[in-house]
Amino acid sequence: MKLNEDFNFNIKKRRPEEEYENVSDYFRGDVLTQYANSKSIMRIQEKITLRALELIDIKKKDALILDAGCGPGFAAMYLKEIGHSVVALDIILEFLNVYEIKDLNPINADMCFPPFKPSTFDAIISISALQWIFRDINNRIMHLMLENLSKSFFKILKPKGRVIIQFYPKNKDLMKRIGKIIADTTDFKGNFIIDNPNRQKKRKIFLLLSKES
Ligand SMILES: C[S@@+](CC[C@H](N)C(=O)[O-])C[C@H]1O[C@@H](n2cnc3c(N)ncnc32)[C@H](O)[C@@H]1O
Repeated sequence: MKLNEDFNFNIKKRRPEEEYENVSDYFRGDVLTQYANSKSIMRIQEKITLRALELIDIKKKDALILDAGCGPGFAAMYLKEIGHSVVALDIILEFLNVYEIKDLNPINADMCFPPFKPSTFDAIISISALQWIFRDINNRIMHLMLENLSKSFFKILKPKGRVIIQFYPKNKDLMKRIGKIIADTTDFKGNFIIDNPNRQKKRKIFLLLSKES
């Protein structure tokens, strides 16, 4: 996995994924409602989705796309609007019930164990979720979960399918390790794309993966 070596970062501030072991202990009650109803979060997530789509460059007009870790469905709704078919998957059931998203085929499941047949999707998109899955380099379970996620994504993608993952790793070592685990466990070809690498507030990190055959 290629990584631009000209920048470095290590975020000091503790973030929710370090404070809470389970994502469902953080996104609940008021925190979940505020996230799902915030117009500014909606705008930010849509902007990230647009950039993710630019990077993944899906040629097919009516692709079948998995939104992994969809939350209330901001990316999934946008994908549907532009003509794709979507399956919106999240581990927190309450997120899937905020909006009327039946036509996004909502599925309550863990994205490390996506319940789909091989070669189902043209593309997979995941916005702001992976930092919950792999956040500690020394945690064996997290390694196994990421391995499972990458093997599963590889399996459920059609040949020539692509994955775009935007996420918030805490530091460059974590990022590198994620790239290594994916490269060691699958035949994905891929690279990181980092927008505004040296501006912490504006930095956006994407991982683009392709299943070549
Ligand atoms: C910051 S929210 C982002 C939600 C949405 N993608 C967006 O852009 O608004 C992170 C989401 O990742 C989901 N998530 C975290 N770990 C997950 C897992 N193992 N399987 C499925 N979803 C997961 C959470 O439930 C939450 O909805």
